[in-house]
Amino acid sequence: MTVRQIQDEIIKLKKENDVCILAHLYQNHDILEVADYIGDSFGLSQQAANAPQKTVIMCGVRFMAETVKILSPEKKVLLSAPNAGCPMAEQLSVEELKELKKQYPDHAVVAYINTTADLKTECDVCVTSASAEKIVKNINSDKILFIPDCNLGEYIANQIPEKSFTFINGGCPIHLQIKVSDVEKAKALHPDAKLLVHPECHPSVTALSDYAGSTTGIMAYAKKSDAKEFIIGTENSIVEHLQYECPDKKFYPLFSGCICNDMKLTTLPEVLNCVKGIGGCEIELDEKTMIGAKKCIDEMLRLGE
Ligand code: 13P
Ligand code: SF4
Repeated sequence: MTVRQIQDEIIKLKKENDVCILAHLYQNHDILEVADYIGDSFGLSQQAANAPQKTVIMCGVRFMAETVKILSPEKKVLLSAPNAGCPMAEQLSVEELKELKKQYPDHAVVAYINTTADLKTECDVCVTSASAEKIVKNINSDKILFIPDCNLGEYIANQIPEKSFTFINGGCPIHLQIKVSDVEKAKALHPDAKLLVHPECHPSVTALSDYAGSTTGIMAYAKKSDAKEFIIGTENSIVEHLQYECPDKKFYPLFSGCICNDMKLTTLPEVLNCVKGIGGCEIELDEKTMIGAKKCIDEMLRLGE
């Protein structure tokens, strides 16, 4: 089958079978074209709570599918690629977090949404790169234990100097590959380009950017800007999507190796199998985890609205 034939079949079957397809912006372009909703982690969570269909397919990584299941327990939720995890989500165990909470008993525990459902049961609120600043400002505590991404944490701490932050040593292994020397090389090659980065990058890289924000934020900035050239410091799919959206502008990857292999496990034929009911993996969580993690996600949606 050709890409076009598979896409047509998916679009036909998802209507017949009452299926909603959610796709994170790090997915390949052929998958975005068949999705009902495309976005960053915060937008996907909001959409998860509102999708009217009985079945939801998450084209992304496991913690994103878990979030959908927690917000819509009555729905069948499929993760398109069963092995697609986020390495950062596994960096801290529940036991380690319990120990940290003993060390910092007066801190609000703020978890990046890139965490397992189990870990969320021990947190006060979760945040995404798009919503973290607003949510942390709104939390009723001046002391924040921010897990697990200390780069995003430091970026947020710089926006909110009136609160004190404690970090642990975590981060995205994909974004952490990007170095200041990559910025220097890219700027030398493209001196007129704006540098747009994800705040999962190391603070020394983020400090050199013209804009730092979520994947949706980066897309929106590039689309609105009068500038004609952009260096993109996040997963390289964003470069491709922007080239489709803005054919008159030029987009360059900051680092050619910025590819999230977990996000790339989803393929169009596997999405077709999912809408046929013979692919992906169904997300199942026990009741205790669902209830515990829901408090933390509900709080994010409440404070981030
Ligand atoms: P966004 O919330 O910006 O989409 O980021 C998710 C992510 O995993 C970035 O690496
Ligand atoms: Fe996780 Fe990094 Fe991949 Fe995002 S890019 S899903 S944080 S490994």
